[in-house]
Amino acid sequence: MADYLDRIGAGKILLDPNPLSFDWIPQELVGRDEQLGDLASMFLGIDAAQSSGCAIVTGPVGSGKTVLVRRFSEDLMRHLDGRRRIQPVHINCRNHPTTSQVLQRIAHQLDHGHPERGFSPGEIIQSIRRNLISSERHMLLVLDEVSVLLLREGDDLLYQLLRIDEGRNESGTLSLILVSQEPIVHLFEAAVKSRFGQSNRVRLDSYDEKGLHAIVTQRSAASCRPGSIPDEALSRISGYAAGTGDARHAIELLQSSIRRAEKEGRNEITIEDIQPSTRLSASIEPDMVDGLTDQQKMALLALCRRLRRADTVTSGDAEKLYHVVCEEFDKERRGHTSFWGYIKRLEEIGFVSTQTGNALQGRGRTTLIRAMNILPATIEKRLEQELNRDVKAN
Ligand SMILES: Nc1ncnc2c1ncn2[C@@H]1O[C@H](COP(=O)(O)OP(=O)(O)OP(=O)(O)O)[C@@H](O)[C@H]1O
Ligand SMILES: [Mg+2]
Repeated sequence: MADYLDRIGAGKILLDPNPLSFDWIPQELVGRDEQLGDLASMFLGIDAAQSSGCAIVTGPVGSGKTVLVRRFSEDLMRHLDGRRRIQPVHINCRNHPTTSQVLQRIAHQLDHGHPERGFSPGEIIQSIRRNLISSERHMLLVLDEVSVLLLREGDDLLYQLLRIDEGRNESGTLSLILVSQEPIVHLFEAAVKSRFGQSNRVRLDSYDEKGLHAIVTQRSAASCRPGSIPDEALSRISGYAAGTGDARHAIELLQSSIRRAEKEGRNEITIEDIQPSTRLSASIEPDMVDGLTDQQKMALLALCRRLRRADTVTSGDAEKLYHVVCEEFDKERRGHTSFWGYIKRLEEIGFVSTQTGNALQGRGRTTLIRAMNILPATIEKRLEQELNRDVKAN
C-alpha cells in the first residue's frame, strides 16, 4: 500500500533539502568577498561603544543582496562577541510596507511581549531605544526592499531612526543597512541624504555564468549525495541562468532537475533534467507586446525568430534579421543607434536580456541577447498578426 510514497525520503539524490531553500544562509558566500569587505569597511569603528554605521546595498534581482547582508550581520555579531552585543533585526518592507508596521515589527523582535497597538511612531521609537540601552545591545537594523516603504511613505521613518539619539546622553543605539533593487538615494530628503555618504554604498552586479556555477556547486554539495550531480549538469544550469544572472533562478533549476530525476527513480541527474523554468518563460503575457511601437515590434520579431531555435542571438545577427523584417512588412528601417535603443527598451521591460562577452572567437567583444520571461514562438505569432494588421490598415 502507498508505494507511491516510497520515493519520499528515499534520498536517492537529495540528502538534505534545506540548502535548496531560498532562505538558507551558507556559512561562506561564494564570490562576494570583495563586497563583504566593502560592507565591513563601512562599519570599521563599530566595536566601540556609542558608535554606529550605515550602508546602502543595491543590485538586481537575485544578485545576493539579502544573503550578503544576513551573512554580514551574523558574522559581525559573532566577531564582536564579548566586546559589543550586536542585535541583528531584518525587516522586509514588502511584507511590512508602512512606518508603523516596520516599527511594530522591530519592537516585537526586540521584545516579544511588546504591545501590538496604542502607541504613536515616536513612542515606539523611544521604547525601542530604552529596550536596547537597558539590555546593552546595539541594533543592526536591515530594511530590505526599502523602496516599497520609501515610495509609499517617503523617508520620514529613516529620518526618525537616524536621529533616535538626538538630545540624549547616549549615542550609537542603532546601525542601519538599506537594501534595494533600485537606486534609492534620489528618494531621500537632504537631511537623510547627508547621513548616507557617497562611500557608504555597495552595488552588486548580476552573477555571470561562473558565479552561478559556483553557487549551484555549493548548493548541490550541501544538499545532494556525492556524485549525483555531474559537473556538465551544473554547467548547463549556470548557462541557462546566466540569461537572468539571478542566483535564485539557478537554484530553482537545480531543484527542479533533482525532483525530475528522483521522480523517475534515478540516483543521478542528467543534462536532460535541466529545463528552462516555466515560471520565467511564461511570466509575460503575449498581449503585452501590443503596447510596443512598430519599430520595437519589428526588432522583437527579429529576435524571436532566432530565439525560437537558439539560446542566444548576437546583436549583429539580430540587426540583420531586423532589416529582413522591415523589408517583409514594407517599413522604413532605422539605423544602428535606433535599433540598439529598441533592444535596450525590450530589456528594460523584461522581454530579453543582453550580455557582453567574448563568446565568439575572432569577432572581438560581442553582445548576446537572450529571451527572458517570454516564449519566443508565441510572441512571434502575436507580433506577425499585429504587424500584418497594420500593413492591411494602411
Ligand atoms: N554569493 C552567494 N553565495 C551563495 N548563495 C548565494 C549567493 N548569492 C545569492 N545566493 C543565493 O541565491 C538566492 C538569491 O539571493 P538573494 O535572495 O540574496 O537575492 P536578492 O538580491 O536579495 O534578490 P531580490 O532582489 O529578489 O530580493 C538565495 O537563496 C541566496 O542564498
Ligand atoms: Mg532580497
